[in-house]
Amino acid sequence: MAASLVGKVFVITGSASGMGYAAATTLIARGALLGLCDTNADGLSKMVNELDEDHKSKVLTCQVNITERAAVREFLRTTKEKFGKIDGVANLAGTAGHKMGHFEIWDVEDQEYDFIMNVNVKGPFIVISEALKPGLMEEPGSIANGGESTVPPPPLSRLGTAQEIANVVVFLLSDDSSYVTGASWTVDGGSNA
Ligand SMILES: NC(=O)c1ccc[n+]([C@@H]2O[C@H](COP(=O)([O-])OP(=O)(O)OC[C@H]3O[C@@H](n4cnc5c(N)ncnc54)[C@H](O)[C@@H]3O)[C@@H](O)[C@H]2O)c1
Repeated sequence: MAASLVGKVFVITGSASGMGYAAATTLIARGALLGLCDTNADGLSKMVNELDEDHKSKVLTCQVNITERAAVREFLRTTKEKFGKIDGVANLAGTAGHKMGHFEIWDVEDQEYDFIMNVNVKGPFIVISEALKPGLMEEPGSIANGGESTVPPPPLSRLGTAQEIANVVVFLLSDDSSYVTGASWTVDGGSNA
């Protein structure tokens, strides 16, 4: 039986869409309390409006750009203040760039490179470094970070869904993964097998 998530408090970045949205809705359904952030305020509102009244009281949403340290710090602080603790953080905000990766390397302008690296590299660094400041998270706590690598077509002959990634994120946040630490999990339909 899966470990209970009732009363656990998690922070999910990038929760207005994709993997973050799927992780958030799964965690809410299993009884967790959530601090949710994204740059997309409308997406966050839409998500909360889809929840029933009981679940609405179990989420805090905030428009936050994870590349802005002060905003991240304040969001973590208000989440802890509202729910009393933070058990884990899933960093699922990310970007494939303004052209969704559909260009050749020589077409990538420095500005675009900086944008992608800021969101996908510096952003998670800021979130993790703020979350791990002594006294903020429960110990032991969980950090799960979403990432991407270029891979060949998967043997499963289809793309993964956001929910299939979220299922692994939820496992990593839960007590079911209590002996998993410092590990990279590949969720790629066997592309790297
Ligand atoms: N979907 C896939 O198959 C897949 C696979 C591997 C990796 N990825 C990568 O993982 C990341 C997330 O994928 P997804 O499918 O969930 O994408 P998505 O675009 O559906 O969701 C990402 C969310 O992050 C938010 N976001 C972007 N920049 C932000 C910032 N600076 N601060 C806060 N929130 C921000 C967006 O508004 C969006 O809601 C992307 O970088 C994507 O390239 C995606």
